[in-house]
Amino acid sequence: MSDLPTAQHRPITARDGCQDPVLLNDWHVVGYASDFAVGSIYPVRLLERDLIVWRSADGKVHCWEDLCIHRGARLSKGWIKNDQVVCPYHGWQYDHAGRCTLMPAAPDEKPMRKALAFPYAVEERYGFVWVCLGEATDALPPFSEWADERFLKVHSGPYVYDANGYRAVENFIDASHFPFVHAGLNGRMEQPDRLKPYSVEETASGLCSSEVEVFQPVGDARGQPVMAFYTYKTFRPLVAYFSKRTQKADAQGNIVADHSDTFTTLFTVQAIDATHSIVRVCAALDVQPYPAPEKVRERADIIYNQDRDIVETQRPERIPTELRYELHHRTDLMGQRYRSWLRGKGVTYGVI
Ligand code: FES
Ligand SMILES: [Fe+2]
Repeated sequence: MSDLPTAQHRPITARDGCQDPVLLNDWHVVGYASDFAVGSIYPVRLLERDLIVWRSADGKVHCWEDLCIHRGARLSKGWIKNDQVVCPYHGWQYDHAGRCTLMPAAPDEKPMRKALAFPYAVEERYGFVWVCLGEATDALPPFSEWADERFLKVHSGPYVYDANGYRAVENFIDASHFPFVHAGLNGRMEQPDRLKPYSVEETASGLCSSEVEVFQPVGDARGQPVMAFYTYKTFRPLVAYFSKRTQKADAQGNIVADHSDTFTTLFTVQAIDATHSIVRVCAALDVQPYPAPEKVRERADIIYNQDRDIVETQRPERIPTELRYELHHRTDLMGQRYRSWLRGKGVTYGVI
């Protein structure tokens, strides 16, 4: 696609919606790789922009603006013919690179040089499809467990949050809600954990916490009590991660084994707009015994739906990145640093 004049070739629809370069130049998950089959066109919405995703017969995934340059019809209402996208209005056909190859009303004419779709950069990795609407400034976030055979990988979601994407992320990196929102699973409402002080450092790949220790009566899909030690990271404004080291414990929270297991999660948010999001996660487990993937998904469904129910209630809906609008306690250090980090990056969309 490098021979296409992408920088100047902007759809008129790009004037609407998010204008924040930090987000436009970032990678965003728009679906699971398995969502996109050859032969169909899938509409997706990202940062108030309507896009299409389609997979050509060679297996490559393409993401374009949901717009035909001719008269602005939606390509998502069209279809695939001969491995090309057909616009539903006048039948113009576009090849993999987004070049118009046929104008049926003038089939003998070579389509004009400017008869192009509006393609965006796409990467398929970690079982997700990632899209960048601008000029990608960074590589995709890391997830080293993906290539590590010791880890069982399980995707779950999508979880549709009627909420701001950063609110979803701050909830993911917050440990003091466990005893209340996930009572009986990730904590005990009658005996909430006293959170010991922890630290957060800013690294080249984002924020990283020291271990946050909590007791979990049902720590994962194996269904047993564990002491859990969370290391939280924020890679991007809308991509976070934790690595949870666990040690077997008794029902009172006493560690009963020296061995540590590891449970990690890559947490991605597709910001549909400033107050609507789709969360998709990939867990990677190096635990003994391995639980059945369905059990991991069942548990994730419970946990993330509990999270969604509370996150949807938060006001203001757009996360405040100025700390004075809320009250921060030392136990919220990760969420506090996340706000300041967004502010430092110059994020303007979806925040107040
Ligand atoms: S609007 Fe697409 S072919 Fe005319
Ligand atoms: Fe939670």
